[in-house]
Amino acid sequence: MTELNNIALKILSNGKGILATDESTGTMTKRLEGVNVESTVENRLLFRETLFSSDSMKSCIGGVILYDETIKQNSNLKKSIPELISNSGAIPGIKVDTGAKKLALSNNETITEGLDGLRERLKEYYDLGARFTKWRGVFKISTKNNLPTHEAIKANAHALGRYSALVQEANMVPIVEPEVLMDGDHDIDKCYQITKMVLEETFYQLSNNNLKLDGIILKPNMILHGSSNEGKNENKQIAEMTLNCLKESVPKEVPGIAFLSGGQTELEATKNLNLINKYNDTSFIMTYSYGRALQQSALKFWSKDIKNIKGTQNIFNHRANMCTLAAQGKWSEELESK
Ligand code: 13P
Repeated sequence: MTELNNIALKILSNGKGILATDESTGTMTKRLEGVNVESTVENRLLFRETLFSSDSMKSCIGGVILYDETIKQNSNLKKSIPELISNSGAIPGIKVDTGAKKLALSNNETITEGLDGLRERLKEYYDLGARFTKWRGVFKISTKNNLPTHEAIKANAHALGRYSALVQEANMVPIVEPEVLMDGDHDIDKCYQITKMVLEETFYQLSNNNLKLDGIILKPNMILHGSSNEGKNENKQIAEMTLNCLKESVPKEVPGIAFLSGGQTELEATKNLNLINKYNDTSFIMTYSYGRALQQSALKFWSKDIKNIKGTQNIFNHRANMCTLAAQGKWSEELESK
């Protein structure tokens, strides 16, 4: 077993998943202002550190994705943030892309940037304790405008390939995140078709860049109706189509798949992951790498009284426990409402 494969398995095994707290300062400001909390450096640290010191970090969370600001912060508990995470048994990771920018001369498609100087930044992050990284390519479906274009798919998949190679060279595990957005009026079949195209191009580019596929983690979207499509999202259909799409497009060497929640509610993201695992007849570990679907209720509660650390942690612990049950196909409505 290679060192990178070992790290990937440590993050994903035994129902553990990934806590994605790598919101850029801009996104975190939107989230905090959405619940009427001022977005200061201290408040961003306080909320995140509240999650990182909760009990479920030991039992449920295998890895935490940090943002540049957080990985360099010291916890109020007198440790560095990466130390606080490692002490709970989870592995610290870091988002290394610098965001999705407009692809020049395109119809509002995006290209994710951050390759320039990445080799040097990776060294810095490794020294700070990171052992895995994340890069997110974004693909928006528009049936009317025939998007995404082949050009945007190729450009973003190519960037994911170059990013991943740099990360493995630096002895870290790349999370490869090609996200087909939920936004739009497309139906579930369209989501399937585009996700398959995107995944196939991504793995083509990873193989061109000599990636060791047993040392990556794939972070895809689930297959869903667009958020403004009239079709009703049925958990069974989502689970079956998601599994089929991944079986058709992901090479067997990949050890694990950690889904993004992408705007699904906490409950939907949990139910869908649970059914995916009930039906999972592949060799892939199927778990979560959720941002909003792990943090939303905890953030809402915390915003009412940011000093109520225990109360906030209870809510986060419940959510993380439910996701970890779902990652083993053991979640139920009854356990949810306990
Ligand atoms: P969501 O689960 O909120 O989609 O966030 C996951 C993530 O890391 C997106 O890049």
